[in-house]
Amino acid sequence: MSDDSRPAPSGARTAAVIPAAGRGVRLGPGAPKALRTLNGTPMLIHAVRAMAASRGVRLVVVVAPPDGAAEVKTLLDSHALPERTDFVVVPGGDSRQESVRLGLDALPPGIDIVLVHDAARPLVPVDTVDAVIEAVRDGAPAVVPALPLADTVKQVEPAAVPGGPEPVVATPERARLRAVQTPQGFDHATLVRAHETVTDNVTDDASMVEQLGLPVVVVPGHEEAFKVTRPLDLVLAEAVLARRRLNDGF
Ligand code: CTP
Ligand code: MG
Repeated sequence: MSDDSRPAPSGARTAAVIPAAGRGVRLGPGAPKALRTLNGTPMLIHAVRAMAASRGVRLVVVVAPPDGAAEVKTLLDSHALPERTDFVVVPGGDSRQESVRLGLDALPPGIDIVLVHDAARPLVPVDTVDAVIEAVRDGAPAVVPALPLADTVKQVEPAAVPGGPEPVVATPERARLRAVQTPQGFDHATLVRAHETVTDNVTDDASMVEQLGLPVVVVPGHEEAFKVTRPLDLVLAEAVLARRRLNDGF
C-alpha cells in the first residue's frame, strides 16, 4: 500500500478510478453503499479486487465518501490486495461526476489509459475489464461494456406527482438499445478534456466523450457486472458470490 504521494511504479500505464462516494439512498438506511458488506466483505473491497485482478491495472484510485477517506484507507490496509497494484484514496464530491473528476486529479503523470468503475458493481469479471482495456489499446478513445435489454423501454413525459400516470412519448427499438455498465475505459487525455469541457449533469463518463464529438464504442458487458442499487440486488450479489464459491470448490 502506498501513500498518496508515491507515483505508480514505472510501466504502469493503466489506472482505475473507483467512485465510491455515494450514499446509496435507493438501498435504504445504513452505511454508505460502498461500505456495505456482501458475504462479510465490503462492496468496495470486492470492486477494488475486481480492478486489481486485471494484470494491466497497476494503480487504483478509490474516491471515498467525503468524510470517509481515513476509514476507507484503513479498510484497504486490512484486506488482502495484490502486491503489484498501488492504491490511493481521495475524498469524493456531491455528484458522481465530481467524484470522478477528483479521482482523475489524483492520477500521477504517465498514465495513458483510465478505467472508471462504480464501487456499486463489485462483481464484474476480470475478462470484462480486460476486454475494455484491450479496446482502448486498439485505439478507441472511449469504451463501454454493455448488454442488450430484456425489457422494452418507453420514453415518457414524467408525471408532476410521483406515481401519477405518465404519457408515453416514444418506444425506441429495443434491438438498438444497450444497458451500459462499468468499467468504462478511456484514453486518459480525452477523459480529462471531457471533464474540463462538459458541465452538464451526466450519468456516465462516456456520454461526456460523446459530447466532445469523439467516437465511443460498446463491447460486450457481463450479467455479473450489474449495479447494486436496490435491496434485492444485495440478495442477487450474495447469490452470485455463493455460486462462485461453489464452482471454485470443485
Ligand atoms: N458516487 C460517487 N459520488 C457521488 C455519488 C455517487 O462516487 N457523489 C458513486 C457511487 O458510490 C457508486 C457510483 O457512483 O459507486 C454509481 O452511483 P449510484 O449507483 O447511483 O450510487 P449512489 O449514488 O451511492 O446510490 P443512490 O443514487 O441510490 O444514492
Ligand atoms: Mg446515485
